[in-house]
Amino acid sequence: MAERIDVLISKEAVEAKIKELGEQLSRDYAGRRLHLICVLKGGVFFMTELSKHISLPVTIDFMSVSSYGDEMVSSGRVKIVKDLDESIEGKDVLVVEDIIDSGRTLSYLLDILKSRKPASMKLCTLLDKPDRRVTEVEVDYTGFQIPDEFVVGYGLDYKQIYRNLPYIGIVVQE
Ligand code: IMP
Ligand code: MG
Repeated sequence: MAERIDVLISKEAVEAKIKELGEQLSRDYAGRRLHLICVLKGGVFFMTELSKHISLPVTIDFMSVSSYGDEMVSSGRVKIVKDLDESIEGKDVLVVEDIIDSGRTLSYLLDILKSRKPASMKLCTLLDKPDRRVTEVEVDYTGFQIPDEFVVGYGLDYKQIYRNLPYIGIVVQE
């Protein structure tokens, strides 16, 4: 089946919002260092753009996770496919995500990370679909709240493509 992509949030609007978030983080963490953790692969486009607007010493690290399979999906348990390179103990950590949907993956991941004793840990997401939430997740910084639509672009994929679109689009089946 063919599909087309309708623009939901333009490139200009996404970029303006990321700049705003970066400036807010720079104020909120003034005088500190910020350790950004990107959840691969979707979060990478957002994190690199965000980091350019943070006027503080920033370090970055990456993590990759996958669901265990159907049985485990409901419990939200995930397998760490690639763990962080560095310890987060004593660091001010900001987890950077592309989108929060059910919240399952992230709530599990945040529990693991909290047990590693960071000085602080907050969550920043480009997109949030609050209507889809199954597991409560405290989101500290949100770019856009969006309706329950399947979106692509800016890191988000449909069957692994469209991640490189510079805007957020809705996949429409034709
Ligand atoms: P959840 O919050 O545990 O349900 O998982 C969120 C993950 O599902 C995100 O990190 C994305 O990889 C993926 N996801 C959720 N909604 C969308 C969407 O609209 N487009 C593309 N990927 C999505
Ligand atoms: Mg993701």
